[in-house]
Amino acid sequence: MSSAPGAPPDREAGIARILGFLKAYYQRSQFEEVRRGFAALEGDLTELLRSDERALAQALEWVDDLSRSGSKGEAKAMPHVLSMSFAMLANKASAGTDAGDLGKLVPSHRNQLQENRIPAMRAIIPENFSKPITALEIGTWFGSGSTRIWMETLPPGSSLFMVDAWGRYITNVDRDGNANPSYRLMDKLPQAAMTAAVREMFQAEEKPDNDIELVLMRGRASRILPFFREGLFDFIYIDGSHYYAEVKRDIELAKSLSKAAFSVICGDDLETLEPRLIEVAKVIQDRDFITYDGVGFHPGVALAVSEEFERVNTSNGFWWTICRNGVWGIS
Ligand SMILES: C[S@@+](CC[C@H](N)C(=O)[O-])C[C@H]1O[C@@H](n2cnc3c(N)ncnc32)[C@H](O)[C@@H]1O
Repeated sequence: MSSAPGAPPDREAGIARILGFLKAYYQRSQFEEVRRGFAALEGDLTELLRSDERALAQALEWVDDLSRSGSKGEAKAMPHVLSMSFAMLANKASAGTDAGDLGKLVPSHRNQLQENRIPAMRAIIPENFSKPITALEIGTWFGSGSTRIWMETLPPGSSLFMVDAWGRYITNVDRDGNANPSYRLMDKLPQAAMTAAVREMFQAEEKPDNDIELVLMRGRASRILPFFREGLFDFIYIDGSHYYAEVKRDIELAKSLSKAAFSVICGDDLETLEPRLIEVAKVIQDRDFITYDGVGFHPGVALAVSEEFERVNTSNGFWWTICRNGVWGIS
């Protein structure tokens, strides 16, 4: 570690002694996260100690005392600066570092958004709402796709409820059949995805201008949504399970939870509403995605949307509909 330009050498030596002591302690930890977390903490702790002479003196006294007496010595209260740094370490160790790193190896799984859907998604909230609203997202995954868009486009003062099952995703038919291997990979990532979403939420809240209340809930949408009161939401985005029975239930619940006077329901992965493909969807209800006659589509989403709404707007697979005075329609 290099000394700050102009800093008294004894102060830097003191800081080095404290860090050396703590490092030796943490390097013995059986947990990789703690060992790596300490490395990430060193810089912050150095800054803290450099900026506060009194804290540095207390920390030095504590370290020297413990070094002298070893484990036999009387335990002294840890100085505030160090207990604060332990809290920072705990935060860093639990901040999903591993999940984030893992996610970077498989970027297409981290963010499930398709590039060409983004403009319509970024536009939907500003075009329809200018005052604070209550919003619900079903299907958050790593929190770095649709979630970021809502966090960035919701009017200040809004609330965003995020519901995700973060569990097993695909049916046995998809797992054992010839479904795209990426679905099987998704089944291996829910814990990493949930940890990353938690981190995403904290990062958003750290932004000085953040004024969105973020609420994260784990469980299947069909189990969680009935706990909300009817007519609560102004905006609901549906991107959870894509299997017919679940997405149908999610839409039914979303309709009852939407404000009758004015609200928006939207969702992902509606590639087609062609009647002949809807007929195919009726007989294939346990597949997330299929290709029929050269058309790739999500049969569960197509069938459920076609049954629940007469018409919807679509943009490259993103779909939306607007409720005005109890009637759902296109804008
Ligand atoms: C396609 S991903 C969502 C992608 C995300 N919106 C994005 O833009 O990156 C589908 C998500 O739905 C979740 N999910 C699956 N079944 C669910 C259910 N029944 N209820 C709630 N979430 C579910 C999965 O855990 C997964 O995170």
